[in-house]
Amino acid sequence: MSHNTYYDKHALARAKDLLADMTLSEKLGQLNQFSGEDGHISDHLRANIQSGNVSSVINEVDASVVNELQRIAVEESRLGIPLLIGRDVIHGFTTVFPIPLGQAATWCEQTIEQGARIAACEAASQGVNWTFAPMIDITRDPRWGRIAESLGEDPFLCARLGRAMVTGFQGTDLQDATSIAACAKHFAGYGYSESGRDYHFANISENELRNTVFPPFKMAADAGVATFMTSFSDLNGVPASGNKWLMDDVLRKEWGFKGFIVSDWASIEDLSVHGLTENNAQSAQLAANAGVDMEMVSRCYAQNIPALLEAGTVRHSDIDAMVTRILYLKFALGLFENPYTDSSKFPERANLEHLEAAKQAAIKSCVLLKNDAHVLPINTRLTNHIAVIGPLADDKYEQLGTWIFDGDERYSITCAEAMRAKVGNNGHIHYAKGLDTSRTFSNEGFQEAIEAAQQSEVVIMVLGEESILSGEAHCRSNIDLPGAQSDLLDEIVALGKPVVLVVMAGRPLTIGAETDKVDAVLYAWHPGTMGGSAIADLLCGDAMPSGKLPVTFPRAVGQIPLYYSQKMSGRPVTQESFVHQNDIPIRAAQTSLGMASNHLDVHFSPLYPFGFGLSYANLQYSEVMLSSQQMSAHEPLNVSVDISNESDFDTDEIVQLYIRDLVASTTRPIKELKGFRRVHVKAKSKVNVSFEITEDLLGFYGQHNTRITEAGKFYVWIATDSASGEYKEFSLVK
Ligand code: BGC
Repeated sequence: MSHNTYYDKHALARAKDLLADMTLSEKLGQLNQFSGEDGHISDHLRANIQSGNVSSVINEVDASVVNELQRIAVEESRLGIPLLIGRDVIHGFTTVFPIPLGQAATWCEQTIEQGARIAACEAASQGVNWTFAPMIDITRDPRWGRIAESLGEDPFLCARLGRAMVTGFQGTDLQDATSIAACAKHFAGYGYSESGRDYHFANISENELRNTVFPPFKMAADAGVATFMTSFSDLNGVPASGNKWLMDDVLRKEWGFKGFIVSDWASIEDLSVHGLTENNAQSAQLAANAGVDMEMVSRCYAQNIPALLEAGTVRHSDIDAMVTRILYLKFALGLFENPYTDSSKFPERANLEHLEAAKQAAIKSCVLLKNDAHVLPINTRLTNHIAVIGPLADDKYEQLGTWIFDGDERYSITCAEAMRAKVGNNGHIHYAKGLDTSRTFSNEGFQEAIEAAQQSEVVIMVLGEESILSGEAHCRSNIDLPGAQSDLLDEIVALGKPVVLVVMAGRPLTIGAETDKVDAVLYAWHPGTMGGSAIADLLCGDAMPSGKLPVTFPRAVGQIPLYYSQKMSGRPVTQESFVHQNDIPIRAAQTSLGMASNHLDVHFSPLYPFGFGLSYANLQYSEVMLSSQQMSAHEPLNVSVDISNESDFDTDEIVQLYIRDLVASTTRPIKELKGFRRVHVKAKSKVNVSFEITEDLLGFYGQHNTRITEAGKFYVWIATDSASGEYKEFSLVK
């Protein structure tokens, strides 16, 4: 716990004192989370709070209702224990920031921390004191709808950005009125659900868990995240909510996590649906013994723990420990002193400062994937007639993204609106929807769109997915542009005008065919409230594209899982050994192909690699410079590059450090991200960017699943993305 700056020993002492005064029923009450009732307080909820059966309420966000709930708890229950008020504040509250996957494309810890800080402040103004974020599940499957809520495919990047979110939500002091408790979720393995189907099962070796899935969770625990949430998924045969190894052995004993663990929504009850238990009593027994402290919404604990205690299958001492952990957080948050929320003491929600921060986050999150013939930026002084076309071009709601319970679309600025503001009276925006929604197949609106394009010098097509096509339970087996969007694009491209494709989506889409046809592509994810404004600034050169992909873009669904840090295999494919099925002679002999690890019908490379993103500037990287050819535990290595900006544009560049361990006692990835930095490079200037490689950075979990470092040769790259750059070699000596 040494890194945990939030740890409060007085809160622990107070929790223990209070525990000593509690009846069994009051203790068990602290393990229950009830669902809110949409601004209404039923007699049932009121009576349960009065009798001390309610520890937390989820999904109640009106300050006056929350204050009344707190009043009932504080004044009308015997011990006056205040409530934890939980809410999914995931990428903003009233002010909506880009979806987490978009925020990850900023590669910017400060931006992410600031976004979470603002979200916390807005949520706290309504009485929320606990969020269920960050989601730090590593995933390599864009079919999974919750990739939208993730911070991407890479453990190093996700760990850093997840930590920034925790710090943003929790602030510098949990007692501050604007601080809310964070929750690292979903522990663990949810992002590996088979075939990208939500709630599915995951089979992950312990080695993969430790090297890839756990690092962001470990970092969140070290950073002092207040709570953890279990995953819905079955992990190697033991669903997470009943998995003692995960919660007790790893999280509590090995990592020293002192906060409490909440189940996911009814995930204790689900244990019998999985077939791990026969009934709710067994589920309660298993989950309590495995380490889940609070049950979200279902009632397995409340209904069964008394009998389990009598039977001796759940221990009183364990219940005491569970209750203490929950009470601890209530004391640490200062709820006993300040259970009520005075909204008037908070800054207004969606104020100009918050909106501007959301805009800057959206600017940093957009990734420029293509810009042939420099069609971008558009010079609005010279180009007066611009078409803005597509079902997502002027839709205030759909640009917001997946978790927007509290988002207010009235604040949204769409692309069409922002482009109109941009050209002002000097030109004209020819807007057409083209398709009613992103899923529409009817081509009724095509003619109007064609006419809009015909009247224009350049066309901006805003296509992608509506919000509802990503997020929880919203998985897709086909991740092409839905509906007739591709057909609409074909009609517009056929007119021969320059076409810029802006994609709003909750996941990487397989847009290879579309990107080939257009001149420029800006990937905007679901950019949130200020999305249109950010996009217009980027398209018109008032802001510089600087985002980089936090996830690999596959060419075809059949390539999934496709990620940059795959292993070598014994038969790696190369450009020379790759054969496409169209090039195979008829009746070719079985062994006449390259015998390499690839599909015959799609190139082995991704559509766009992890870390990729263009800007309007033209940057050149020098060779990697090493302070030595050798390093040791006592003598870390300094590696650096010079980056020169030949262009007339100032820009931000996300510089990426990768290493490869050439020979190890278990095979290692062909590349692993080990550092990154967002640096500003002024026009016609040069910067030097350096990283320190310590022995610890070269560590990994080996055959015995303990962390080791091994002497030997390594490659190092400092590059603009995971597929570029020349490596240099160095050795670690022991
Ligand atoms: C989700 C969690 C979320 C919870 C509360 C569940 O369905 O998996 O991520 O925090 O609901 O809304």
